[in-house]
Amino acid sequence: MRYTTTVNRLATEGADGWAVYRRAKELMASGTDIIEMAIGEPDVPTPESITTAAIDALRAGRTNYAASAGEPELRNALAARYSSRLGREITPDRFICFPGTQTALYTVMRGIAGPGDEVIVGDPMYATYGSVIAASGATAVPVPLRAEHGFRIQATDIAAAVTPATTAVLLNTPHNPTGAVLAGDDVRAIGEVAQRHDLWIVADEVYEDMIHGDTPFVSPLSDPEFEDRVVVVNSISKSHAAPGLRSGWCVGSTDFCVRLLPLCEAVLFGNQPFIADATALAVSRPSPVAHGMSTRFAARAVRLAERLHEATDLRVQLPGAGMFALVDVSSTGRTGLELANDLLDQAGVAVMPGASFGASLERWIRISLTREDDEFDIGCNRIIAHVNGARP
Ligand SMILES: Cc1ncc(COP(=O)(O)O)c(C=O)c1O
Repeated sequence: MRYTTTVNRLATEGADGWAVYRRAKELMASGTDIIEMAIGEPDVPTPESITTAAIDALRAGRTNYAASAGEPELRNALAARYSSRLGREITPDRFICFPGTQTALYTVMRGIAGPGDEVIVGDPMYATYGSVIAASGATAVPVPLRAEHGFRIQATDIAAAVTPATTAVLLNTPHNPTGAVLAGDDVRAIGEVAQRHDLWIVADEVYEDMIHGDTPFVSPLSDPEFEDRVVVVNSISKSHAAPGLRSGWCVGSTDFCVRLLPLCEAVLFGNQPFIADATALAVSRPSPVAHGMSTRFAARAVRLAERLHEATDLRVQLPGAGMFALVDVSSTGRTGLELANDLLDQAGVAVMPGASFGASLERWIRISLTREDDEFDIGCNRIIAHVNGARP
């Protein structure tokens, strides 16, 4: 049977990136002792206030069809949150609710990029971005994120990558996997490039509430001058330790939301009212868990750096936010993929090869900071023992 070019393009997109992790899961399922430091699940359960709100709403019969742009109470709650954070009014008609950031990203991208278009994106990037851009029909144009700039995407690099086919820049701040947080000056300079070339800026801000370094979070939406071209996507997956609730949204201009809605209705027709009720509660007050997670992840990143720097030649890039730390493994003479495979088979530790997130991280691995402290320490011990034992 015949399949679309989109399906064929996606078949190869990022497929091998998860191979080490898949093998780790198989080994764990067969009883092998593996410390899993590959994936970033929150290290606490979803706050009870949120699960209770969802259960109460379910019991109250909130299983009807929702408004296709999102339940009014949730859009009002989101409008209040963004108005307060940005210091100017952001009206409810600027939001569309989705089951998670991922669906928001997919739909937004389909709304602004298509075959023949180019989308500029930092390399490394979050694992699904290649597929999201490919699914729209557009071509991803990777711009290397460099360690010497703290992995912050540079406006000059974006400007150099712009062609007449460029329609959008896909930003991720705070960034997965590097933990980089764009400073106000970065955001301003990127906005100016987008203005000059009439580009959209899509900003994935899922780690907004998980800053643990010195650079404060600045959204591209914070500058009213650029707001017509900025679309933010976000969710409660990270901030409220609730990835399984699948609750996210996009914020764009009113016109953008009006234009995007028929596409949303072609896919979703709204998201679940009982989840919307729980999300409205979640976003109307500070997260009860984000600060604790950020503090623990920051402490583990520092501990990882202290341990590895003292005992090995591996170099840890301290993240400014989020759930991961990158480790430069070039001193081992092996690629991140080779080391990740060896760590899994010989040391019983699962980490992600940096190359899963882009070619520029070929000599890096990504370590999740979400394991409990004692397991995290055992994982560090195993990495140190392996790297030292295997040193030529
Ligand atoms: C940068 C980034 N964007 C989006 C997502 C997916 O978020 P959601 O669960 O809201 O779909 C993740 C999940 O790890 C992520 O790291």
